[in-house]
Amino acid sequence: MMKIITIIGARPQFIKASVVSRAFALHKPSIQEMIIHTGQHYDSNMSDIFFNELDIKKPDYNLGIGGGSHGQNTGRMIEKIETVLLHEQPDCVLVYGDTDSTLAGTLAAVKLHIPIAHIEAGLRSFNRQMPEEINRILTDHAANLLFTPTNIATKNLSNEGIKGDQVQQLGDVMYDVALYYAHKAEKNSRILKTEKLDSKNYILATVHRAENTDNITQMKNILSSFAAINKIIVWPIHPRTRKRINDYGLAIPHTIKLIDPVGYLDMVMLEKHASLIITDSGGVQKEAFFHKVACITLREETEWLELIELGANILHSTIGFEKEVLSNFNKIFKDNHNIYGSGNAADKIVDYLYYELKKSNKG
Ligand code: UD1
Ligand code: UDP
Repeated sequence: MMKIITIIGARPQFIKASVVSRAFALHKPSIQEMIIHTGQHYDSNMSDIFFNELDIKKPDYNLGIGGGSHGQNTGRMIEKIETVLLHEQPDCVLVYGDTDSTLAGTLAAVKLHIPIAHIEAGLRSFNRQMPEEINRILTDHAANLLFTPTNIATKNLSNEGIKGDQVQQLGDVMYDVALYYAHKAEKNSRILKTEKLDSKNYILATVHRAENTDNITQMKNILSSFAAINKIIVWPIHPRTRKRINDYGLAIPHTIKLIDPVGYLDMVMLEKHASLIITDSGGVQKEAFFHKVACITLREETEWLELIELGANILHSTIGFEKEVLSNFNKIFKDNHNIYGSGNAADKIVDYLYYELKKSNKG
């Protein structure tokens, strides 16, 4: 039996882990997956809702560490994760993406010489001011197996000297999730009714990136462009952003429907039926493409360059993006490029991981 410990802590990681955990379950009893939830995201609509809706098994450990600064969170997580790893002695630690939980899991495991697998490896913004960029680079350079979602991610790793069999481009697990839950979302979600939204007649917005939320000028710019857009904007607001807007004493324009963070199924419905998405989220940029909705990304750069090249996404500063809304509203674009794999990345990753670990256990 092979023991794998998955370390997750933030909303997008629960979503990604849902399909990978399901793939692990198919290998029972050869593989036992245990989950450590660091506690980085802790509100029920940022955490529990995803475990319930997406049938993710209850974490074996919840470390309850969230709400602190980068150093506080990361340091406290490393200490507690190390204790669990020493106790459980896993064959491999699995981390996702680029959050402080990812880095903490990586640092705890690498010092104990436990092999690390990284899902969503190789992404780069080339902006080292982003906390996520540092987390990704350090994680990729410590990991033993790197699962990249795109050609660009694979190339980024190769440029940093990380290449060969340890890098596997098997697709993007977020695409798997989008396909898996598309039907269930249509069937179960009531969000369009409860929020009184007409399909293809509203904009969906999300904002949570530190470089936007932690800068009053950026937030003022965003709110003033939102005010200048003469359309309904539905905005499930991240707790970080709500807190900042309150701290800055900024007013919300009346065209905005500000709602609490929603579960994944409601989010999929909001995305699929939107006329346009405006976001600074990594995951939401891709989901816009999966659901064939145009996207304006309020950032200077993106890790998902292929979407810019395809014309599915445009980058814009926080100033004056209202000018882009008309030309992108209900825009029709061709997709059908399998740039994120075939929707079975999770199965392929788990199979690869299993056979690799089996090989090294024998040797
Ligand atoms: C984190 C990730 C970011 C990811 C995002 C997904 C890092 C450095 N950043 O950013 O890459 O895109 O998650 O959503 O790891 N808060 C609550 N309740 C919660 C969660 C957060 O109130 O359940 C508030 C707290 O005030 C907290 C703040 O949001 O201090 C920031 O949370 P944190 O997890 O540090 O960063 P995110 O902005 O969520
Ligand atoms: N999401 C959600 N509810 C929300 C906002 C986002 O379920 O209210 C989902 C979204 O569909 C995507 C993921 O959360 O799958 C993206 O997470 P987030 O934007 O927090 O982080 P990022 O992808 O930027 O790291």
